[in-house]
Amino acid sequence: PEQLRSLLISRIRDVADYPKPGVTFKDITPLLADPLAFTALTDALANRCAEYGATKIVGLEARGFILGAPVAVRAGVGFVPARKAGKLPGPTLGQNYALEYGAAEIEIHADALSAGDRVLVVDDVLATGGTAEASVELVRRAGAQVAGVCVLLELGFLGGRERLAPVLGAVPLDALVRV
Ligand code: PRP
Ligand code: MG
Repeated sequence: PEQLRSLLISRIRDVADYPKPGVTFKDITPLLADPLAFTALTDALANRCAEYGATKIVGLEARGFILGAPVAVRAGVGFVPARKAGKLPGPTLGQNYALEYGAAEIEIHADALSAGDRVLVVDDVLATGGTAEASVELVRRAGAQVAGVCVLLELGFLGGRERLAPVLGAVPLDALVRV
């Protein structure tokens, strides 16, 4: 686990003053470009999926798609995209949320999940927790159970974990890397 952690962290690049002055952006594109690191990440998340008995992965547009889709394939479960509003063609459920920079709405297809589903929510970064919270609420409103929330990177100083605690209760929140 410590070896995985140092591999992953070595492939996340700090970009100063993006998207605005004073903010350091965590860029995961070097990790995605490294097949060893990307595979290690995918395997670690697929193991969580099995451990939690998840039947579906919900990935959050956009970076949660990149991480979540290979995990679903590796774990042998279905992938459900939570998209930014207006992109899904069928009847949808939507949830508004506040972002670290601005506000947004995510949607899933109303029929994407069923009552027996146990969902692992996958995203790249937990910052303020707004995105994760909205996705957990969406999954539950769709009638499914949240089995866990997994992110590659947790920005601890933004308090996402504390915000999610009352929403998640006993549901595990895993971050492979914490800063
Ligand atoms: C980023 C990141 C997480 C979210 C975390 O997504 O990928 O999804 O912010 O922030 P929060 O915990 O404060 O909600 P963003 O919507 O900026 O962009 P993306 O489409 O590139 O994933
Ligand atoms: Mg995102």
